[in-house]
Amino acid sequence: MLNNQKIIEQLTLAEKAALTTGQSTWQTYAVADKIPAIFMADGPHGLRKQTGATDHLGLNASEPATCFPTAATLANSWDENLIGQVGAALGNEARALDVQVVLGPGLNIKRNPRCGRDFEYYSEDPYLAGKMGAAMIRGIQSTGTFASPKHFAANNQEYRRMASNSLIDERTLRELYLTNFEIAVKEGKPRVLMSAYNEINGIYAHENKYLLEDILRKEWGFKGFVVSDWGGDNDHVAAVQNGGNLAMPTLGANGPLEIIQAVKSGELAEETLNQRVDELLTQILQSTAGKNTQQQVDWSHQHQVAHKAAAESIVLLKNKAATLPLADTTKVALIGDFAKQPRYQGAGSSLVNAQQVENMVATAVDQPITFIGYEQGYQRNGIVDHELSAAAVALANKSDVAVICAGLDEISESEGLDRTDLKLPDNQVELINTLAQTSTPIIVVLSAGSVIEMPWLDKVAAVVHGYLGGEAGASAMWDVLIGKQNPSGKLAETHPLTYEDVPFGKEYPTTQRDVYYKEGPFVGYRYYTTAEKPVRFPFGFGLSYTTFAYSDLHVASSGVTAMVKNTGEREGNEVVQLYIGKSDSQLIRPRRELKGFTKVHLAPGEAKQINIRFDDKAFRYFDVTSNSWQVEAGTYDILIGASVDDIRLRGTIVEAGQNVAPALNLVHYRKADLSQVTLADFSALYGQTLPAVKTEIGQQLAINSTIAEMRYAKNWLARQVYRYLKHALAKSEATGKPDLNLLFIYNMPFRAIAKMTNGQVSLDMVNAILRMVNGHFWSGLTRLINHYFKNRKQNKVWQKEMS
Ligand code: BGC
Repeated sequence: MLNNQKIIEQLTLAEKAALTTGQSTWQTYAVADKIPAIFMADGPHGLRKQTGATDHLGLNASEPATCFPTAATLANSWDENLIGQVGAALGNEARALDVQVVLGPGLNIKRNPRCGRDFEYYSEDPYLAGKMGAAMIRGIQSTGTFASPKHFAANNQEYRRMASNSLIDERTLRELYLTNFEIAVKEGKPRVLMSAYNEINGIYAHENKYLLEDILRKEWGFKGFVVSDWGGDNDHVAAVQNGGNLAMPTLGANGPLEIIQAVKSGELAEETLNQRVDELLTQILQSTAGKNTQQQVDWSHQHQVAHKAAAESIVLLKNKAATLPLADTTKVALIGDFAKQPRYQGAGSSLVNAQQVENMVATAVDQPITFIGYEQGYQRNGIVDHELSAAAVALANKSDVAVICAGLDEISESEGLDRTDLKLPDNQVELINTLAQTSTPIIVVLSAGSVIEMPWLDKVAAVVHGYLGGEAGASAMWDVLIGKQNPSGKLAETHPLTYEDVPFGKEYPTTQRDVYYKEGPFVGYRYYTTAEKPVRFPFGFGLSYTTFAYSDLHVASSGVTAMVKNTGEREGNEVVQLYIGKSDSQLIRPRRELKGFTKVHLAPGEAKQINIRFDDKAFRYFDVTSNSWQVEAGTYDILIGASVDDIRLRGTIVEAGQNVAPALNLVHYRKADLSQVTLADFSALYGQTLPAVKTEIGQQLAINSTIAEMRYAKNWLARQVYRYLKHALAKSEATGKPDLNLLFIYNMPFRAIAKMTNGQVSLDMVNAILRMVNGHFWSGLTRLINHYFKNRKQNKVWQKEMS
């Protein structure tokens, strides 16, 4: 019996088919007198509700909204309560704007620090990402708005993001790329979940039965509906068959007609369609039940939440000779373009039309310091400007300290674009080096959504990483600089010494379809700690203006307790981290993994007992032979640390479980000696034959080849189109602002021409285009014209039927 049996019985086949796709860019279909439409809007750190022209890349205008710190920033707080408050504020704003589903949070694992979208994701660690995501979901949903964690799963590079196949060995998939979603789903209970653009081990996420049915629904008990990423629906019938409920944006008549046809031919059982509609309807009806569009937004409250979230997420990375906090009346020079034009959020679908953006210069006057002036210091577009730099030096020479606001500009990190390196722009580095030659202590304030190489670190007195702090990031940064806020943020990702240390960094992003996840489980600190590679700042690292002492570890079967004491002069928060490892493990296993954490607030001299319980994730590993979670029997290291590399207390515990015989004798993997790992090793870890790579001229392009693959096309004109695109992209990069539209087109598969044009282009038309590209120009063109008229007619008939 379906939950909405009665309503579903009254729906026609066409109405049910329509419900599996959107009616517009953001809304689902409404059925008169029976089913209302719901409105979905990005995103993870603030609403992007578009009422005029629509797009999925943040290009057209959206309603003003509060811009909270991005996920990469919030994760540094390690504070579930705080993130819950941000979620609630976001959920309330959504209600006031009549948005039923917020398209976030983004949970993907930061597999590589160059992923252009890392700013939108929480962590390289699935436990932390899962906990932060669950807190955000609970916060959003406490208001009656629904959350839609994304992108499920293993969507870890922007290059070819709609046309890549993540090949991951089963154990790594479960332990790394799914555990984050598992925690978020089980503990946050989201009503919606967004599938990813990519394939996972050869099957598109939105039609992946293993992920959507076997794991998400059956194992984890997910009760909501699965929405595709925008344009991520591949084979619409296969999606409905395998667990995908809703393809967005609208497919016009095309998607629904495919469903009708499939039901009529018996390819798709009507019960399966009913089931998908039922899962969707339960949520649609509940989300619209208590609709209250009258609610007013208290913008000043929202701004305060954004401020608090930013302040508690700032990470103090260096503080030589207690340069910070700044004493009252210190003469402070502010240097750097970012001080006046802050970089406070990322680009792409998450772009918020922020209500009230602060900057460091404007908020300087409210501080108890003596503000002696501002100099731009460098040009944002990377061009070296000696005059700006000379003026900055002159100002620094007049001050007690110089605060340089540096970071990544808009072109460096964005949805649709992976970073080319981990460096600050050269002209900023040059300015830091020049200013460091003055006798004035230099404080570097960073704005960036992720990791930065810091070869200049030894030359400066202090470094504070604000990540992307949202609209209130500037006043939050001042709070830390003047000591009103004792910094307690801890890094949710490793900052390596250089990008060369990142495993298989040269192969990222993978340019062909098949992405081999060759590093296996050794992502982020799992690699650096196991391979004993030094890093610039370890996972979990962050300084405070006070100090903490750890003692009295007690390990019991239920968890650990320990004492933490504030041994300094200021009150402060400490994030205490639990890592577990098994040094004699028979498995390929990282040296230690995060399995719990807690944040404790302590007055000067105060000591408190902390308590971290072992949960079902503490000792488990995924056994691929029995296809189940198991515990390896034996002794485990229980480590309590202030970061993954700063272990303060050590204990052990013996766990009952399976005696594991090493199934794979892959020595290089076992030692995380990844530079020695061969393709044959990866193939053995993967457990299947790896697909071969084809890229020669004259290749037949198919529906899921990317537009950029036209460089191999048989047809001359198609190769010219590729060249034009490439040229236009290079031109747009030179302007310093990424052209997200061009990037999207370049990386998208041909199929997306049909999936992203609101039904204006049918799959038959795309196949005709492909025929032209593949060397049958004239017959392809004839088909294209025929299908164009057919599609136009079909859409007209469909619109009439549905109105
Ligand atoms: C992004 C999603 C986003 C959607 C709608 C896609 O391009 O990948 O994260 O929610 O657009 O804007």
